[in-house]
Amino acid sequence: MPTPGVTHEAPLKDMDEWDEFLTGRYQEGKSEDQFRQYDEKATPGVAEFYRLNHQYQTYDYVMAKQKEYFGLNKGEKSIWEAAEFLNTLVDDSDPDTDLTQIEHLLQTSEAIRRDGHPRWFVLTGFIHDLGKVLCLWGEPQWGVVGDTFPVGCAYSKDIVFPEYFQANPDIHNPLYQTKYGVYEPNCGLDKVHLSFGHDGYIGEVMKNYMPEESLYMLRYHSFYAAHRHGAYRHLMSDHDVEMLEWVNKFNVYDLYSKAHTKPDVKELKPYYDDLFAEFFPAKIAW
Ligand SMILES: [Fe+2]
Ligand SMILES: [Fe+2]
Repeated sequence: MPTPGVTHEAPLKDMDEWDEFLTGRYQEGKSEDQFRQYDEKATPGVAEFYRLNHQYQTYDYVMAKQKEYFGLNKGEKSIWEAAEFLNTLVDDSDPDTDLTQIEHLLQTSEAIRRDGHPRWFVLTGFIHDLGKVLCLWGEPQWGVVGDTFPVGCAYSKDIVFPEYFQANPDIHNPLYQTKYGVYEPNCGLDKVHLSFGHDGYIGEVMKNYMPEESLYMLRYHSFYAAHRHGAYRHLMSDHDVEMLEWVNKFNVYDLYSKAHTKPDVKELKPYYDDLFAEFFPAKIAW
């Protein structure tokens, strides 16, 4: 259900535009200055997208969305069915050069497989963006993709476009604007509420099936302030810090797998049928 009273503009031409922005932002060898500069020169669509994201992702919004989705009451689907469903997201851009959502997932997982990583890691590559199905249930772009950040405590300067938080009502709540906010020092990330999106959601869908390393990759792959910039260490346990190493290992594939050739879905299907059967029952709750 879309949030009442909230506008649902779609400033990105499609959600891949945000992924492309990320790839540019984190190109190897970029200095901190170049990083900032890139942000200022960002396409208006991306800037507008972050403006909406930072304005509307309040503590109360996150609580309401968790309540709505974390009970997994959207029906049962197999992994292929969820991927096919995601594939119905129509891409307005050039149909000849752009990849379908399934092809994007396979590019990530195949790059991981080529490097000889364990099967759960390959599988993580395939499922990591399946949470984008939230879009098909009426959630706006700014509530599905974008960098994630903790709500209920002070915003880090390492979050992209921090100036847009001035329009978030939480900025006027003193309780939410201290270093720790509603949290205890080093309480652990599982107690911290991140802005709502495809990452947190897919983490919930997969929590009974995937190993802990994978769940960290799923839950925190868009938490760039933490895994790229080292922010929010004061909310993490030592265990979180160790596990975030896995998120960094994964991030390489998330950002840089797009250059490879179009995967052949038909040819790859038997391998993935086996892989899904190893970790999941025929259908799981979404
Ligand atoms: Fe993602
Ligand atoms: Fe991704």
